[in-house]
Amino acid sequence: MNSSKWYLNSVFYQIYPQSFQDSNGDGIGDLEGIIYRLDYLKSLGIDAIWLNPIYPSPFKDAGYDVADYKNIAPRYGDLNTFDRLIKEAHKRGIKVLMDLVFNHTSNEHPWFKQSQKMERNRYSKWYVWCSPFEPINLGTGSWAMWVSERYESYYHQFTFYQPDLNFGFPNLAREDGNSYDDPDLKALREELKGVVRFWLDRGVDGFRADAMEALVIEAGKKGIHGNTARFWSEIRQVIDSYKDKAFIAEGFHHTEDIARCKFNGCFFIPQTWRLLAPDPPQRKREPSPVKFFSPQGGDLTWFVEEYLKEYKEAIEQDAIINMISGSHDMPRMSWICQKDEIIKAYFAMLLTYPTAPFIYYGDEIGMQYWVNLPSREGASFRTGSRTPMQWNGKKNAGFSSAESSRLYFPVNKDYPVRNVEIQESSPTSILNTVKGLIKLRKENPSSGAFGNIRHLHLKKGDKSYIYSRYGQGDAFLIALNPSDTSRKIRLKLTGEEEEFKGAKYLVPEISSQKVPKIAVEKEISLWLPSNFFAVYRIS
Ligand code: NOJ
Repeated sequence: MNSSKWYLNSVFYQIYPQSFQDSNGDGIGDLEGIIYRLDYLKSLGIDAIWLNPIYPSPFKDAGYDVADYKNIAPRYGDLNTFDRLIKEAHKRGIKVLMDLVFNHTSNEHPWFKQSQKMERNRYSKWYVWCSPFEPINLGTGSWAMWVSERYESYYHQFTFYQPDLNFGFPNLAREDGNSYDDPDLKALREELKGVVRFWLDRGVDGFRADAMEALVIEAGKKGIHGNTARFWSEIRQVIDSYKDKAFIAEGFHHTEDIARCKFNGCFFIPQTWRLLAPDPPQRKREPSPVKFFSPQGGDLTWFVEEYLKEYKEAIEQDAIINMISGSHDMPRMSWICQKDEIIKAYFAMLLTYPTAPFIYYGDEIGMQYWVNLPSREGASFRTGSRTPMQWNGKKNAGFSSAESSRLYFPVNKDYPVRNVEIQESSPTSILNTVKGLIKLRKENPSSGAFGNIRHLHLKKGDKSYIYSRYGQGDAFLIALNPSDTSRKIRLKLTGEEEEFKGAKYLVPEISSQKVPKIAVEKEISLWLPSNFFAVYRIS
């Protein structure tokens, strides 16, 4: 791959460090464990890993409550181990992304401890404070009252333990100044830029920006606030002073995020929720459509339309939209898919789509969502997606040598039959399917981020989807039918389709069931068994 702008066409792998590999038997994953598993990641074929926060933290939100931006939580290791992780990853051609959590800190961060003091100091304005008698309704988040030395309440978008940093909240005009250009707030931003330089100097290859849109909230206004965009653009400038670094947003407004905040990529989160996860009852969103990647089958048109619109706008700005298999914030996709064959069908799309995909650890073996597993470290409904990686059928699934009762989270009960070791030895496993698809994507540029895409069969209410990828010296037809109902699809070609010019056959490259090669004629008949995907080379 061309080293320049590698992040636009890479396959990423998300590591939840707590649960990936424990190396010292304390029951929790660590950096040494990740180093130990780098060869596995290399064998998977991924290009880069993204680590959830590994900073020192009281872990009220699993590390998204940072107490020191320039260090490593002792439970994960230390800076020396981190440096070695970077070195060992790079040795294997794997890049490393950190999580940048700048919307808030922990309430135990020394900045906050100073800020909450009665006596004015350098940090007094670094957080969002207001009078306890007139808390402003920002429409989201809450005010923590009566808990600070100073006679004010602080704003927190997330938990009480995560006070928001101040990037100039316009509703909070203060006599002593609260604008974006206020010298105290400028000092905060300079400090945060120093954090970015600190990790880039250590060799990290980029960042995933946490809660990127949440930095500044203005009552009644939706979308990315001007100050939020200004701040991320400033961070972008710092990142650009290093060569070839990725800057990816956890965002909800996609194209807008990219343009105004100058990200290289943006997760496709709300749509992936609707596609791959049941809505938790607490979350009032529009009703989910019947899920395409489920035994019942369902409509995919809405997803494809929204995705490709965002994608086109993004690449015009030299950026990409990142499709994901899941994340530490949503139930695992296996819950919706229900069957391994359907999980494979989703991977077939994820890995042959114009995107730079993220695979959430464990999804490549179809790890299950554990319903009602007791929450820890603020995980709540996300708990069931954070259980230890299932490496083999041995003690604690090979995750840790600790007593099972000491594990950070218990190992899912299906580990004797669902683990990396078993799936490595089965040619038709999800794991080997994912590996095959990544290999195909790497060896054939048209199936990656920049090949053309054409829908050959996509209809509202239909349970199957057929598309082609072509234009960079190779061409493919991908057929998906995740549902339990088999079907026959007839494709009529006009003779104008570039990808079929001179083609004689559709040759199966990788599929969930053995399928024959098909002669290319004016009308192609495709038999799609139930729970099926196939990637054919058009040749
Ligand atoms: C998004 C993260 O992915 C999530 O895990 C966290 O709770 C919030 N941001 C707050 O940092």
